[in-house]
Amino acid sequence: MKAIIYHKYGSPDVLELKEVEKPAPKDNEVLIKVHAVSANAADWHLLRGEPFLIRLMGFGLLRPKNKILGADIAGWVEAVGRNVKQFQPGDEVFGDLSGCGFGGFAEYVCARENALALKPANISFEETAAVSMAAVTALQGLRDKGQIQSGQKVLINGASGGVGTFAVQIAKSFGAEATAVCSTSKVDMVRSIGADHVIDYTKEDFTKNGKHYDLILCANGYHSILDYKRALSPNGIYVVTGGTMAQMFEVTFVGPLISMSGSKKMGGIMVKPDKKDLVFLKELLKSGKVVPVMDRVYPLREVADAIRYLEEGHARGKVVIKIGT
Ligand SMILES: NC(=O)c1ccc[n+]([C@@H]2O[C@H](COP(=O)([O-])OP(=O)(O)OC[C@H]3O[C@@H](n4cnc5c(N)ncnc54)[C@H](OP(=O)(O)O)[C@@H]3O)[C@@H](O)[C@H]2O)c1
Repeated sequence: MKAIIYHKYGSPDVLELKEVEKPAPKDNEVLIKVHAVSANAADWHLLRGEPFLIRLMGFGLLRPKNKILGADIAGWVEAVGRNVKQFQPGDEVFGDLSGCGFGGFAEYVCARENALALKPANISFEETAAVSMAAVTALQGLRDKGQIQSGQKVLINGASGGVGTFAVQIAKSFGAEATAVCSTSKVDMVRSIGADHVIDYTKEDFTKNGKHYDLILCANGYHSILDYKRALSPNGIYVVTGGTMAQMFEVTFVGPLISMSGSKKMGGIMVKPDKKDLVFLKELLKSGKVVPVMDRVYPLREVADAIRYLEEGHARGKVVIKIGT
């Protein structure tokens, strides 16, 4: 089969399109013919082996352990291992394989059945591939860590990217009033996906306009943690999914101190791939309450270009790779 592989950490230049052995499913695994896969920041972090800390998390100290990146797949089940109960050949599935070895930048991949759910029938494979990691991150950030409630004022910083476009729509599905923060060229797009208010960060600093939010989800965009604290309501919650190293440092070391010393809670999340969350999102996708926002679609041979584009940090929704084009 064709796959995009890498043997050493580095820039997208180290990625190669190669012919490799087609994987065979173990007893508890499903073999999937990948139709589409989306790119995530996790892919370029693992490509570069940066920040260095991730190499200590089992991904390979000097060389990458998983030679094929790509987590968010959508495709057909081609074969199942003998202990697989939930799927059969022909099923259309999607899922996040970051918890079981990645491997999605390829024509075929094997995955544990618990990493997968049945694909919603009303959207394409490309749209479905956009969902898993970004939408589950948004869901776990808003619902689990953020304890989102209907009627709350919720602000999403980095609203126009992969996580942010899902976060805006998921916040609305919970009945919140959503304020989206993005740059000028994305204002109309985030309004079109349901944001009640849009702040163009090139023109207005939401941390200085005197408004307060019950929940702030930060998918990107640096402000100091004290700026975010100022923008929170008295019992407000601030959740970081990602951003600069300074943001990560502040939320790890200063966040707990602020949370312990007052009524505001400030912390980060690390997404946990979860089949129940995929099923939850599938219902939102079926009902049309959540619609994936697609940016560029690349063929498999251009994964390096897809990652270069994503790394620029200004995607408009999700960047997807369509296999077989
Ligand atoms: N914690 C986890 O488990 C987890 C899981 C998934 C992702 N993440 C992290 O979450 C972050 C977002 O991921 P993503 O997939 O959404 O990335 P993405 O698709 O690359 O989104 C980038 C977005 O950030 C926006 N942005 C850039 N500078 C900004 C600024 N100064 N203020 C506000 N927005 C700004 C861009 O919008 P404009 O073009 O409008 O500037 C762009 O739409 C990344 O850091 C990623 O590593 C973490």
